Amino acid sequence: MLRYNEIGYKVIGVDIDNTKVTQLNNSESYIEHISSERIHSAIQHNFKATTDFSYITECDVIILCVPTPLNKYREPDISFIVNTMEKIQPFLRKGQ
Ligand SMILES: NC(=O)c1ccc[n+]([C@@H]2O[C@H](COP(=O)([O-])OP(=O)(O)OC[C@H]3O[C@@H](n4cnc5c(N)ncnc54)[C@H](O)[C@@H]3O)[C@@H](O)[C@H]2O)c1
Repeated sequence: MLRYNEIGYKVIGVDIDNTKVTQLNNSESYIEHISSERIHSAIQHNFKATTDFSYITECDVIILCVPTPLNKYREPDISFIVNTMEKIQPFLRKGQ
């Protein structure tokens, strides 16, 4: 996300966790190896975080970054992907 922002793409981060969204919009990193300065720079270059999935309509490219944890049979739990797709589905358009 940061790299795409740094090379000039408009990047919007959509998450269901309002705490993370608020932190990012306040230039606060919650990820150990990413500095708050880097988040601040991204915000200066048009990055925003939101819980509003309707922003999907503005996006040409959508990258899902949700976990796929393995169950006891070492099969991936894809429920995060399914849940995310259900949330973005109303805002998808042809060609995205
Ligand atoms: N953490 C890493 O260093 C790392 C490195 C390489 C690849 N990955 C991959 O990236 C993916 C995400 O890993 P992570 O460590 O960032 O997981 P994470 O659990 O830290 O972050 C996932 C985020 O997705 C959000 N989320 C959950 N359900 C959602 C939904 N329905 N709609 C929108 N957002 C939703 C959560 O609130 C959370 O903020 C995984 O596939 C992982 O394998 C992670």
